[in-house]
Amino acid sequence: MPAFDQLTLNTRRLLLRPLRDSDADALLELFSDLKVMRYWSTPPWESIEQARSMIERDVKAMATGDHVRLGLERTEDGVLIGMCTLFAISEQCRRAEVGYAIASHAWGKAYMDEALRALLNYGFSKLMLNRVEADVDPRNEASARSLERLGFKKEGYLRERWIVGDEVSDTALYGLLNRDWHWRA
Ligand SMILES: CC(C)(COP(=O)(O)OP(=O)(O)OC[C@H]1O[C@@H](n2cnc3c(N)ncnc32)[C@H](O)[C@@H]1OP(=O)(O)O)[C@@H](O)C(=O)NCCC(=O)NCCS
Repeated sequence: MPAFDQLTLNTRRLLLRPLRDSDADALLELFSDLKVMRYWSTPPWESIEQARSMIERDVKAMATGDHVRLGLERTEDGVLIGMCTLFAISEQCRRAEVGYAIASHAWGKAYMDEALRALLNYGFSKLMLNRVEADVDPRNEASARSLERLGFKKEGYLRERWIVGDEVSDTALYGLLNRDWHWRA
């Protein structure tokens, strides 16, 4: 995969760009919000060190093309309101997994729809991915709606795939193929 450390994508209301050191406070706010973290794969964050370590990991991983993670900067005020990522990239199978989160104060305004359309366009047309997957807690209705609006199909159900804290949860596995995306676009 190419390096992603200089990658930026523009949408109508957002600049999608790599994370930087000054994003640590906004990231901690995002990942410590109990509403955002309700169905996440880790417990809510508790310290700024967790934000700094994500940014540090990204500097390496984005430069080596290991994963793409872009912050969602709202262009009208420059505030970082979320992030989206393509990870678990398989070059051989031209497959990746998508992840995303947006601050709860910015929910319901279709920002994530806008961001994911740009990220998926990049993944399918520039990275030539054939398939993008999403692993969703079946109770996470907002996430399922976001995926279905983009054309993802629910393909499978995996029981007790996650243990976060003392909570065991299932996975609804969603998939979107390049040919379906282009057919829709
Ligand atoms: C999942 C999550 C990103 C969805 O955020 P969101 O702001 O609700 O999602 P969207 O921006 O796609 O859409 C919100 C609303 O905008 C509107 N909207 C979305 N796309 C639209 C479009 N293309 N045209 C018009 N309106 C649109 C809809 O009213 C939609 O709400 P509805 O589905 O209830 O009708 C958010 O709930 C979140 O961050 N959750 C916590 C983290 C998480 O669970 N991540 C996923 C892990 S798998």
